[in-house]
Amino acid sequence: MLWSTLIFGLSFSLPAHGDVTKDRDDRLKTAVILDTPTTGASTTPDGRAFLKLARVDGTTGSQVVEIVGDDYTLIPYPNEEWNSWNASTDSAADSERKYVSTNAQRVGPDGNLWVIDSGDLQNFSNSSKLISFNLTTNEVERIYYLGDATTKDGSINDVRFNGKYACLTEYTIGSIIVLDLETGDARMVLREHKSTVALMPLSAEGHFLRTQSTGELEYIHADQEEVSPDGKYFYYQPAIGYMWRIETKYLNDALKNDTTAELLPNYVEPFSLTPSTGGSAIDAQGNIYYSDGDRQEIRILAPNGTTTLLVRDERLLWVDAIWLDTKQRLWLCASQLNRGNRFLQPNNQSTTIEKPIYVYNIDVGHSPPRLDHA
Ligand SMILES: *[C@@H]1O[C@H](CO)[C@@H](O)[C@H](O)[C@H]1NC(C)=O
Ligand SMILES: *[C@@H]1O[C@H](CO)[C@@H](O)[C@H](O)[C@H]1NC(C)=O
Ligand SMILES: *[C@@H]1O[C@H](CO)[C@@H](O)[C@H](O)[C@H]1NC(C)=O
Ligand SMILES: *[C@@H]1O[C@H](CO)[C@@H](O)[C@H](O)[C@H]1NC(C)=O
Ligand SMILES: *[C@@H]1O[C@H](CO)[C@@H](O)[C@H](O)[C@H]1NC(C)=O
Ligand SMILES: *[C@@H]1O[C@H](CO)[C@@H](O)[C@H](O)[C@H]1NC(C)=O
Ligand SMILES: *[C@@H]1O[C@H](CO)[C@@H](O)[C@H](O)[C@H]1NC(C)=O
Repeated sequence: MLWSTLIFGLSFSLPAHGDVTKDRDDRLKTAVILDTPTTGASTTPDGRAFLKLARVDGTTGSQVVEIVGDDYTLIPYPNEEWNSWNASTDSAADSERKYVSTNAQRVGPDGNLWVIDSGDLQNFSNSSKLISFNLTTNEVERIYYLGDATTKDGSINDVRFNGKYACLTEYTIGSIIVLDLETGDARMVLREHKSTVALMPLSAEGHFLRTQSTGELEYIHADQEEVSPDGKYFYYQPAIGYMWRIETKYLNDALKNDTTAELLPNYVEPFSLTPSTGGSAIDAQGNIYYSDGDRQEIRILAPNGTTTLLVRDERLLWVDAIWLDTKQRLWLCASQLNRGNRFLQPNNQSTTIEKPIYVYNIDVGHSPPRLDHA
């Protein structure tokens, strides 16, 4: 069935004339309708839902919100103060206790909400941080400051958990940050290794993307990541694709052991010839779901390396971070990130985003792994 869907879809991607038939799939259900692009949703087992808002449409306001009610009211999370950063008026101390430049959020295996703040390390040395909020009290549980590990030129992108360790991708240099969640010790590894560096510029809807402010082609280094449900493998890739994996035992050991850190490139294995991707998620069987930003698809990458098509739909415009909830549904944020003001648009428009913005759900019949989710 999946194969027939794939062949069916491909025949439409090669039209003889300009009239491209639209791809639509009724399995996509609307979960949220928004006025501002979102690059990631996450949920708790009891039904709370959170979003990371990406203000690439030129709007200002909260970066992390909770969705409340049937009319999709967005409440700043945990409060307005955390969401009130202003670089021209705020202090260095504020940069340690406010979202400066968040990149991702997710509910962790402990049930806390974890927020990745890339910060602005050129100007605020403690602004790069991983924050966990207790969702019962809505108070800060812990903040890991990562500026020393990322160095001034690095930007943390996302996080995944593996027991007492966390792994973060870092996308402006190209590296992995290993973090001991108990001690807070962190170390950058695989810096500028071929597996963490983008070989090609980011691509979406069939075109390379250029930075709007400079006109330069944009390279997004280490970005998507997953940990296998048994904790054995760490999978990762630059946003343009080519997925690699490494056994987590080497990454964890490299945190303390300089020799292991130097030997890490020897343990990296190629895993899959993936395309330009906005985000991924993994299920309890180890299947990785990822978006294809050029072809408006979600694909399934099995642990043995086989790839199948889950869904193709023209509405899946730059699906960024993907979330798998405990009801076996993927949350797909059609963020249209590539059409936002970060990237050069046709005719010098500031953005070509079409509103409203949709978050879709699709059933996959698999649950999330306990290692990753509450
Ligand atoms: C930041 O503060 C400056 C000075 O008060 C103000 O002009 C600007 O509008 C503020 N920016 C935002 C995003 O609130
Ligand atoms: C640092 O601050 C300067 C001056 O406000 C600003 O132009 C620059 O963009 C900031 N750096 C980053 C990485 O945001
Ligand atoms: C804040 O930055 C300073 C200077 O880089 C550093 O010495 C200090 O350890 C940082 N504080 C934290 C909490 O990371
Ligand atoms: C969150 O706070 C509640 C109430 O104080 C506490 O019982 C729970 O253990 C906390 N959760 C975590 C993950 O620390
Ligand atoms: C560090 O790792 C190397 C191999 O990667 C190993 O030979 C050495 O014994 C380790 N050192 C310590 C102190 O564990
Ligand atoms: C790989 O896994 C997929 C999905 O479980 C399965 O359909 C396929 O037969 C497997 N292929 C091989 C070569 O083992
Ligand atoms: C686009 O805008 C930039 C800066 O605003 C300007 O330098 C450039 O000439 C414009 N290009 C076109 C094709 O209008």
